[in-house]
This record gives sequence, C-alpha cells and structure tokens, in this order.
Amino acid sequence: MIVETVITSIWLMVPAYAPNSIAVLAGGGQPIDGGRSLGDERLLGDGKTWRGAVAGTVGGTLLALGMNLLSPRLAGSVIEVEPFAPLAGFGLALGAMLGDICASFLKRRTGRERGKAFPIVDQLDFVAGSLICSSVISYGWMSENLTLHILVTILVITPLIHVGANIIAYLVGAKEEPY
Ligand code: CTP
Ligand code: MG
Repeated sequence: MIVETVITSIWLMVPAYAPNSIAVLAGGGQPIDGGRSLGDERLLGDGKTWRGAVAGTVGGTLLALGMNLLSPRLAGSVIEVEPFAPLAGFGLALGAMLGDICASFLKRRTGRERGKAFPIVDQLDFVAGSLICSSVISYGWMSENLTLHILVTILVITPLIHVGANIIAYLVGAKEEPY
C-alpha cells in the first residue's frame, strides 16, 4: 500500500521532476529577463534561459506521453493513476519551469546571487508550480488522480529526491553546486 503510493506519487511527478534536469543540460543562450535588472539585482539572472525553459517544458510533456505507452502494462499493479491527460503532462512540465523562474525572482529580490541556495524554496518551488499549473489547465485529470494521500506523499518525498538528484548531478559534473 505505502509502496504503491510512493511509486504512484513519483510516477505522477516525473513530468515535473524532469524539466529541471533537462534545462540544466539544454539551457544557455538568451536569458528570459533579457539582461534587465530590478533595482541593483537582475530580474531573474542568466540561469533562467528561454532555451532551458522551452526544452524543459517540451521534454517533460513528451515524457508524460511516452509514459502513457507504458501505463497499460503497469495499470492495476503498482501505478494507481490513469494515463496522463496531455494537458496534465504539459501543465506539470510548464509549472515546474514557472515555479523555478519564480524562485529565481525571489532569490534575486532577497540578494541571493545566481546559484546560491535558498532552502525550502529550492526544493518546493517546482512542486508548487507544477501542481498549481496542472490543476488549472487540467482540472479534471488532476482532481481524479491527485488524491490527498498522493499529494501528502509528493510533498514529503520530493525534497528528498531533489536533494539526492542534485548531489548526483554535482558528482557527475552537470551542476556547479550540490544543491
Ligand atoms: N537553466 C536554463 N534555463 C532555465 C532553467 C535552468 O538555462 N529556465 C540552466 C542554466 O544553465 C542554469 C542551470 O540550468 O544555470 C541550473 O538551473 P538552476 O539551478 O535553476 O539555476 P541557477 O544557475 O542556480 O540560478 P538561480 O540562482 O537563478 O536558481
Ligand atoms: Mg541552482
């Protein structure tokens, strides 16, 4: 029961987890804020680029559609959710990128340089962004599949997965800092 809930929660959040890593690999180029500042600090900073945000959103959406090809085989076993509605997958991926962008906005407003850690916000920005965004644009699918126990599980395991994934990305040299 608990194992199914944890696996289902991770499954549901894969289209929200992947965009950050895709953005790290694909990012670069024109910053979203166009180099503009607000006061003494950049609006968002050079770490938020159009290419990263678009690649993360498209990649996460395609991943959700790809996972749907597997779900008939997994349904009724360990995965307790239906195949992703395309808009749900898109909303999870886009929301993760938007949450990450909002976090950078807050980091700059609080004087944190690019790449500096912002505990709690770093771990939960994309969860809040993805769940809110997908609920807005795919309310039907989310209200059926995001049950209360899955939501609580997501909020508990995501910070742990995020910390672990960033340490791995740091160790393999994909990220400058282990957070
Ligand atoms: N990235 C990107 N576009 C995005 C998100 C991420 O290009 N929308 C790339 C950037 O190269 C960025 C890296 O992924 O440096 C790591 O992402 P993140 O940790 O979110 O950015 P930081 O550089 O740490 O900047 P910030 O302090 O604003 O979070
Ligand atoms: Mg960072």
